[in-house]
Amino acid sequence: MLDGSTDGPAAAAGQNNTRETPTMTIPKDVANTIVDPKAYADGARIDAAFQWLRREAPLEQAQPEGCDAFWAVTRHADIQTVERQNELFHNGDRPTVMTTIEGERKVREMTGGSPHLVRSLVQMDNPDHFAYRRLTQGWFLPQNLRGLEGRIREIARGFVDRMAAKGGRCDFARDIAFLYPLHVIMEVLGVPEIDEPRMLKLTQELFGSADPDVNRSGAAVTDVDQGLAELQKTIGDFMAYFNAMTEDRRKNPRQDLASVIANGEINGQPLGHLEAMSYYIIAATAGHDTTSNTTAGAMWALAQHPDQFAKLKADLSLIPGHVEESIRWVTPVKHFMRSATADTELSGRQIAKGDWMMLCYPSGNRDEAVFDEPFRYDIERSPNKHVAFGYGAHVCLGQHLGRMEMRVLWEELLPRLESLELDGAPANTEANFVCGPKTVPIRYKMS
Ligand code: HEM
Repeated sequence: MLDGSTDGPAAAAGQNNTRETPTMTIPKDVANTIVDPKAYADGARIDAAFQWLRREAPLEQAQPEGCDAFWAVTRHADIQTVERQNELFHNGDRPTVMTTIEGERKVREMTGGSPHLVRSLVQMDNPDHFAYRRLTQGWFLPQNLRGLEGRIREIARGFVDRMAAKGGRCDFARDIAFLYPLHVIMEVLGVPEIDEPRMLKLTQELFGSADPDVNRSGAAVTDVDQGLAELQKTIGDFMAYFNAMTEDRRKNPRQDLASVIANGEINGQPLGHLEAMSYYIIAATAGHDTTSNTTAGAMWALAQHPDQFAKLKADLSLIPGHVEESIRWVTPVKHFMRSATADTELSGRQIAKGDWMMLCYPSGNRDEAVFDEPFRYDIERSPNKHVAFGYGAHVCLGQHLGRMEMRVLWEELLPRLESLELDGAPANTEANFVCGPKTVPIRYKMS
């Protein structure tokens, strides 16, 4: 159907739905595709599904197998309209990430009613969101981060040396891109280097829980109970680690982000236990996999587009444009969910109170109405108003840090990278939330 040849919106209308007033218009196979981890790994399959949706059904309800119905928000403008209205579209009332009906029920059962296993900025709405975000906002501003650039450059240089020492062949994803942002964020957070492999494993388990290559059991996850049990163990390990860290930073505060969280106050009180633990988890995880995926995808893109690589080599002032385009190109965060707090109208559709919305960032970032030739990798794309960092009140808190660490890596690497080509087939992680390349084998010459 992705070419519109079978099924079709009309054929799909009237299918059974668990909601009372459904308007099912997205064909089942497209609905299944946009939540299918394998489709995101495939790349072409997810692009085709979103392209079809933007053209034929840009804002309609979908109900994939086993999932509650949700509106797939696929156009750039609609994504921004939803994100701009953070009182009308909440994060906290329903799962913020696509979850099956069974999964949501189980989580509510486990938590005594909440649809979330953690409570970080992502799961909060105002007034808490504002108060908790304010705690670290200044820390993430460019003027504060400038002081870290020298140290980040040293870390980047170490990774570039490591790449040079590989003798002209490496898996850029595994050998460099997964490790460099982890090292940066752990330094920022204050986690000692010796604990980094453990953090890497836990982060990958958290985001790649469906992919047997990275999840805890090393096997395909076949049922909700098994998936949730694994997720809970991962969160439990994170919490045990950060609990000890909080105690330490309360006794011995330092200049790191962990000290800001451990000693922070909300309305004159220390952060709640769950909220403090969740703050560490979001800082450790959101700041790592996203940047790793983008860095790996950027190298893949340069190897595939020798003209862009040559242009960049000839003019290093194009690096910020390359970084921005790589963020749009990879869009490592595939979606976030919102739910409506009141009946409303959006782009001619009646959204009911309680309706669940999927913000389809990869679709927004290929929207033909905003991007000229969206499927072309163009380091000189201008403007490049992608929504890969989200938008509005929840817009990525670490966007300046992410951009800075990627810029610095390319500034250190490109002057020494003389040639570049793929050395086998790259592959993406199978996940429908945060994902990107898990292997990018390359062959290169370096000075
Ligand atoms: C290429 C890198 C990155 C991408 C593409 C990315 C993407 C995103 C997206 C899409 C959101 C949700 C925004 C929304 O709901 O509107 C988000 C939120 C967030 N990101 Fe990032 N991120 C990146 C790097 C980082 C880094 C380096 C950090 C540092 C710790 C970070 C920390 C956060 C936090 C704390 C939030 C929650 C903000 C809130 O809900 O108020 N991210 N990010």
